[in-house]
Amino acid sequence: GLLDIFQTGIQRWYRQEGRDLPWRHTTDPYHILVSEILLHQTTVKTVEPVYRRFLERFPTVTDLANASLTEVKTITDPLGYKIRGQWLHQIAQAVVSQFSGVFPRTLEELLSLPGIGRYTAGAIMSFAFGYDAPILDTNVNRLIGRYFAIDYKDSSAETKHQLWSIAEAIVPSGQAREFNNALMDMGAMICTARKPKCLICPVAVGCAMLAEQPTRAAEERVQY
Ligand code: ADE
Repeated sequence: GLLDIFQTGIQRWYRQEGRDLPWRHTTDPYHILVSEILLHQTTVKTVEPVYRRFLERFPTVTDLANASLTEVKTITDPLGYKIRGQWLHQIAQAVVSQFSGVFPRTLEELLSLPGIGRYTAGAIMSFAFGYDAPILDTNVNRLIGRYFAIDYKDSSAETKHQLWSIAEAIVPSGQAREFNNALMDMGAMICTARKPKCLICPVAVGCAMLAEQPTRAAEERVQY
């Protein structure tokens, strides 16, 4: 069915075309946290060197908790969206003081930390701990919305709930780490906001948007 085409198609594509990114070589929840906070509203290319610099200077969550906020911000502020330095610092202090320095693993505990919403919690649960947790960022929201015919630009609570339900239902059991990374790369590289690359999309055959807009899709095809 459509779900099977989606899961199989993007996993096979990811194994061939997925990006090799530094935070995909680790399952350390602290490293995943740092990468996800820095990647919020900043591109992969810009984040990469800052991610390395940050972890060189603050190798563990305890190092970060003991640092001065000023020093943390020296590294993170140049990225813009400057609240993130404070979030990382506060999260580290909360992990040390409330969880004895051991990263919490439950959704509820993760959501209790400053600056951690459902997306970042899902990223930590799947990428660090390997749980079957869903993720939904802007890119994944668009990919899922288009494929499953949801009005993904609608920001109503009902639509958001619908998209999260799908994000949860599509995670193949035991494979969230790979699958969620595949969703991200598909959203960033194929199912882009402008001029999606439908011609080379591995799941085009099952895509609702493509079925509903054959003319527009055909026009886009001449681009490639
Ligand atoms: N953007 C946010 N999180 C990301 C990740 N883990 N990989 C690539 N891009 C991302």
